[in-house]
Amino acid sequence: MGEETYDAVWAAARPYLRARKNDIHVPMAFDYAERLLERHPEADRDVVLLAVLLHDNGWAVVDEEAIYAEAFGPAMMESEVRIAHEREGARIAAEILDATGWPPAVRDEVVEIIAGHDTRTEALSRNDELVKDADALWRFSITGTAIACDWFGVTPGVYVDRTEPQIERRLFTEAAREIARAELAHTRRVLRFDLLGDRDAVSS
Ligand SMILES: [Fe+2]
Ligand SMILES: [Fe+2]
Repeated sequence: MGEETYDAVWAAARPYLRARKNDIHVPMAFDYAERLLERHPEADRDVVLLAVLLHDNGWAVVDEEAIYAEAFGPAMMESEVRIAHEREGARIAAEILDATGWPPAVRDEVVEIIAGHDTRTEALSRNDELVKDADALWRFSITGTAIACDWFGVTPGVYVDRTEPQIERRLFTEAAREIARAELAHTRRVLRFDLLGDRDAVSS
């Protein structure tokens, strides 16, 4: 099945992808999802790719200031804005999938995955595991490191120290763990952690 299958969904999602670096995060997550699907042919390609493509649309309709005050703050995992971006994302996904002619069974599974993609720590299915892993993988890349250092006001060294344990703790599939380890090794090497990986400074 060609990638043009999803072009109408990309077009419908486009207005929502300008929030919170989602025009970078979402295409990257989609690319990771395609790589994970190569290792997991038993998963449902449409469900996984559509869920990844649409999962963060809710950020576009959540108040920007609340994102910075709550979503990156100390209580970030429980914050109301995180729950709101899941709820709104699920609603927008249902609208887009209905408008672009996807069957109700696909729509319902995608909506259920998006509704808990951030705050639900358990995965509902293999499809859900691949969506959660694809969503997380960018944080180990140079791009994700750069953006997260800005968001959290830390150096790459501090950020990578915090993020590396998530490979074992939070990723569901070995395929994702392998990609994460390779991304992190690349990040450390290219960003010259031998010289610049200090952990006591705050980026400005
Ligand atoms: Fe999200
Ligand atoms: Fe995401």
